[in-house]
Amino acid sequence: KEIFLKDYKLPEYYFDTVDLSFLLDEEKTIVSAKISVVPRVDGAASPLVLDGVDLKLISVKINGNELKEGEFHVDSRRLIITSPPSGNFILETVTEILPHKNTSLEGLYKSFGKFCTQCEAEGFRKITFYQDRPDIIAKYTCRIEANKSLYPVLLSNGNLIEQGDLEGGNHFAVWEDPFKKPCYLFALVAGQLESRDDIFTTCSGRKVALKIWTPPQDLPKTKHAVYSLKAAMKWDEDVFGREYDLDIFNIVSVPDFDMGAMENKSLNIFNSKLILASPETSTDADYAAILRVIGHEYFHNWTGNRVTCRDWFQLSLKEGLTIFRDQEFSSDMGSRTVKRIGDVSKLRTYQFPQDAGPMSHPVKPHSYIKMDNFYTATVYQKGAEVVRMYKTLLGSQGFRKGMDLYFQRHDGQAVTCEDFFAAMRDANDANFANFLLWYSQAGTPIVKVTSSYNAEARTFSLKFSQTVPPTPGQSVKEPMFIPVAAGLLDSSGKDMQLSSIYHDGKLESVTCGSQPVYTTVLRVTKGEEEFIFSDVPEKPIPSLLRGYSAPIRLQSDLTDNDLFFLLAHDSDEFNRWEAGQILARKLMLSQVVNYQKNNALILDPQFVHGIKCILLDSSLDKEFIAKAITLPGEGEIMDMMEVADPDAVHAVRTFIRKQLASELKQVFLNLVKENRCSEKYVFDHTNMARRALKNTALGYLASLEDEEITELMLHEYKTATNMTDQFSALAAIAQKPGKARDDALANFYNQWQHDHLVVNEWFALQSSSDIPGNVENVYKLMSHQAFDIKNPNKVYSLIGKFRASHVNFHAKDGSGYKFLGEIVVQLDKLNPQMASRMVSAFSRWKRYDETRQDLAKAQLEMILSANGLSENLQIALLSPSSRP
Ligand code: ARG
Ligand code: ZN
Repeated sequence: KEIFLKDYKLPEYYFDTVDLSFLLDEEKTIVSAKISVVPRVDGAASPLVLDGVDLKLISVKINGNELKEGEFHVDSRRLIITSPPSGNFILETVTEILPHKNTSLEGLYKSFGKFCTQCEAEGFRKITFYQDRPDIIAKYTCRIEANKSLYPVLLSNGNLIEQGDLEGGNHFAVWEDPFKKPCYLFALVAGQLESRDDIFTTCSGRKVALKIWTPPQDLPKTKHAVYSLKAAMKWDEDVFGREYDLDIFNIVSVPDFDMGAMENKSLNIFNSKLILASPETSTDADYAAILRVIGHEYFHNWTGNRVTCRDWFQLSLKEGLTIFRDQEFSSDMGSRTVKRIGDVSKLRTYQFPQDAGPMSHPVKPHSYIKMDNFYTATVYQKGAEVVRMYKTLLGSQGFRKGMDLYFQRHDGQAVTCEDFFAAMRDANDANFANFLLWYSQAGTPIVKVTSSYNAEARTFSLKFSQTVPPTPGQSVKEPMFIPVAAGLLDSSGKDMQLSSIYHDGKLESVTCGSQPVYTTVLRVTKGEEEFIFSDVPEKPIPSLLRGYSAPIRLQSDLTDNDLFFLLAHDSDEFNRWEAGQILARKLMLSQVVNYQKNNALILDPQFVHGIKCILLDSSLDKEFIAKAITLPGEGEIMDMMEVADPDAVHAVRTFIRKQLASELKQVFLNLVKENRCSEKYVFDHTNMARRALKNTALGYLASLEDEEITELMLHEYKTATNMTDQFSALAAIAQKPGKARDDALANFYNQWQHDHLVVNEWFALQSSSDIPGNVENVYKLMSHQAFDIKNPNKVYSLIGKFRASHVNFHAKDGSGYKFLGEIVVQLDKLNPQMASRMVSAFSRWKRYDETRQDLAKAQLEMILSANGLSENLQIALLSPSSRP
């Protein structure tokens, strides 16, 4: 059942047109499909194999004739037409499905009384018999019939070409999509929905009708969604020259959705938490996420839909690229540095551990059993870093040329990552050496760099050596092509002008026309390699991997003094942040050792001073300051340890936060006061930055035991006029157990109990709490009236977020593991995809001490022994080294 990339074969049959017809009903839905089939090789009458899961076949016809027994086979996964006629033919099937019984949230299912679909990756086979693979691209029509009062709105892809009323209270609509598409982009929605309508005029003057559909009561919360969509449409025209290609664009918001959103052609379907927003109920982070994801799904129209993937191994072709595009979009709409910091943190928090564990796989995986399990941080986030490296190497204009060639060559096709690579290379006549290894080799490269200055020769040398750690199935690795953006700072902290570099026996000048150059991209391609800068007048401090130019772990020989210098002066703001993070990691690791030896913890005064300087530097962006004073996460520190020790890391992080708060109390207090804003909520960078800094400062202060601070937090909570401020104050109050916490949480629930999305945040805040023994609270919340295990958002909030508290999830008594184990078994019966995502928290159990290993192993064994385990979950558990 394992599918291998190397086994890819062209399909035996292509589909040209697909006419679907749905008769939606309460008890069952009848799906009729009429497909025009074209053999790839004329005359070769090999069997036609169609995927189909949970379908009841009613009839199958070829060229109008009903097939008899023996002319086809049907089992639980496919329908095989044994000997189809040679030449083109028409295949017609009628099937019956049961959407109201479908809790898997893929295929056609019901959410709060509405019909909706999710087909990517392999959900279409739960709707009708089909060659469910992305290289089958066809033109679709879709007729939907349903009861008019229950389902007044009937939507599918493309243009509405016909609609009308029928006898017996039914009505119908016929949609036609003029663009060929793979079946994973098919969508259907039916229900009681209303739309917020707007118009976008494209660069060529076409008017596109925009419609955001929600249940009537949610309509007021769709303003930001429309704003985001229009901004995305404009941005794709400006930056990539991509114009929208139909006269209508629909987005539907549904409360039960497994993931964030889905880019179905002209009918995007979204998890409601990524559509609905209002200042009173949504935080800045929610607003930013909506902007980003609406952009993401919209950008897929070109990167994913017009040009799609040949097979699912190529998933990163569309996802890595589209994540890159949404990152750039968000950067242009806010602060580039802050966005970059956020994206790199995300990579480190989610992708690095994956790449270092049993699930490690290349950006383009070599094999899969269940495709759903491959929607990973590696395919998405590392994939986006790979795309970013092309841009780093080619510059904005070269990258744009590559994109243009990619669309020119492949519009309307299903292609591979190599095709993308070739377009980038050919458009620029570039030499990309062994760059393709980024797609095939798993693991995070480790790059060591040592530097030396020769005063006599006025040269500065950087010596690189790289290794890629072994990963499951790939024990031997080759050196990668790593672009290292670098600059040199002089003793006053200014960038030195770069002139030439001696490398590989050649002296290359670093020029860019007549412009002075301060940053150059070194192309590190070998296991060991040296670059020598010439004409360097004094010993410089190197600023390496500027903007995080490659997804690697860099180990340099910079001293603490160098790092403090970079923190204070680097012109590359990303590297200022990075210098602070490296210092913080070192500090935290040294204190972890102290903690484990039962020594007293200490905080280096130079570190406090560095933080203070950042806090008081009024030339810095406020959101940048908020990021720069935030310590690396506990997971990041544990990753750097031989044996991960959650208790020690938590104690150290808590200690440093508290120490900083007490030493810099007055600075933090001033920041809170200076950055309050009483005006109306505005979602723009300036206002978000103020709130971010104020609330980060408040978070620090909350770690102090202090009457004055308790008063302050309560004041902030009560006077908040938007959710960003209210929720931050609540989170600050909730840091410590006690009456203030209990009261605030109860008050918040009372105020917001009518709003699902806010209640979910309330769940998340409590379940992710580090307060000792919190698992008991989480058990209690499981039976709270607002919790519902069938709803993915609630599961993520309460169960998913519990895993974010390392001390509680990895509690030494095994209570956290036991909790997750029980839930996973329960969840698997309802929604296997969700169960396998939840269980991933166990995947690195071997990183912990023996006691914890035994406890985790016991839970993994318990899950494995449960009856009727889903395929998704079995595979998630059996990845090589998580196997107990
Ligand atoms: N293509 C969707 C996106 O925008 C995600 C689909 C995820 N599907 C899944 N089975 N996990 O990224
Ligand atoms: Zn996507």
